[in-house]
Amino acid sequence: MSETVIAFANDHAAVDYRQPLMAAVEKAGYTVLDLGTGATASVDYPDYAKAMADALSEGRASRGILICGTGIGISIAANRFSHVRAALCHSTTDARLSRQHNDANVLALGARTLGPETAMDCVHTFLNTDFEGGRHKRRVDKMS
Ligand code: RB5
Repeated sequence: MSETVIAFANDHAAVDYRQPLMAAVEKAGYTVLDLGTGATASVDYPDYAKAMADALSEGRASRGILICGTGIGISIAANRFSHVRAALCHSTTDARLSRQHNDANVLALGARTLGPETAMDCVHTFLNTDFEGGRHKRRVDKMS
């Protein structure tokens, strides 16, 4: 598995929103795996959630960032896959705890509901926070 590859997948609601986030992830030293969409034509977010799930299970990325209008649909769809722990975050506290307590491997964001600066902070927090393990590992293990 490539620990330095971060996958991005999103629907049409996030085509512009994702750009500065991808650039920041690359600037932080990661390789970005772009799973689309890069076009504004309407698409179905479950297809992009599946693309993310496949990229993670195939070891093409170690973590991912999913974005749709609210982050709700795409996180629900992604969490249908047992190896995905997608956390819909609206604050850096959410992002930090999603890593420390839930070992989230996917950060989900809402392009229409979360401002770009907070989204940027969530991305950095998600990438820079480790899982605490311990009692949290027992709970995470029970989910799969
Ligand atoms: C697309 O219009 C919108 O429904 C989608 O981006 C997302 O918000 C669904 O949860």
